Amino acid sequence: MAIDIDDEKRAAATAAAALVEEGMVVGLGTGSTVAHLIPALAARLLSISCVATSPATEALALAHGLRVEPFSGIGQLSIAIDGADQVDPRGWLVKGGGGAHTREKIVAGATDRFIVIVSSDKPVAALHPPVPLELMTFGLDVVLRRWPEVRLRQAPATPDGGVLADYFGDVADPDNLSARLAATPGIVAHGLFPPSMTSVVLVGRNGRVESVTPAG
Ligand code: 5RP
Repeated sequence: MAIDIDDEKRAAATAAAALVEEGMVVGLGTGSTVAHLIPALAARLLSISCVATSPATEALALAHGLRVEPFSGIGQLSIAIDGADQVDPRGWLVKGGGGAHTREKIVAGATDRFIVIVSSDKPVAALHPPVPLELMTFGLDVVLRRWPEVRLRQAPATPDGGVLADYFGDVADPDNLSARLAATPGIVAHGLFPPSMTSVVLVGRNGRVESVTPAG
């Protein structure tokens, strides 16, 4: 039987929506998997507030009748739910295929529980490039000279005025790469999310949802 990736995304998203409880402040990620989460969450008719990581997510959430609040003024989220481009066996994520990883990382870092929802094509034996980046326009050429493996993405500026790019070099050691990218002035955020950030990964797989806790 052919695997339907979209069904797997919907199944993972629906399982995540079931984790949300009355009164929670919920971080909403960005992407096609989160697009399944939003109607599933709205259908639960809970009294919740949401923080959106992109204008697209905010528009979809509002269209489904969810209450969306500005992030400023909200200190801590109860739960945040988001997709990923890759999940490795330790629980490292690559995110930012949709260009929203800077806001997604801020939200993931400000929540009690970060739930990752993916289809069965996202878990990988080893991470591979590209790793999305958001760069400052100021000093852009300096960053590009320092990182020859980085290519600018043909994409509009982010809502925060950043330039989207992708790193195409070696990703075999995500701890080291993550630290080096984070230490480069001009790189606003990179798409490597450490295992310690994630509470659980829900993987839609062939009609079922597997729950994987990152080993760290
Ligand atoms: C956006 C992201 C997305 O979560 C990631 O790209 C996965 O997208 P999708 O759910 O469409 O497969 O990081 O910045």
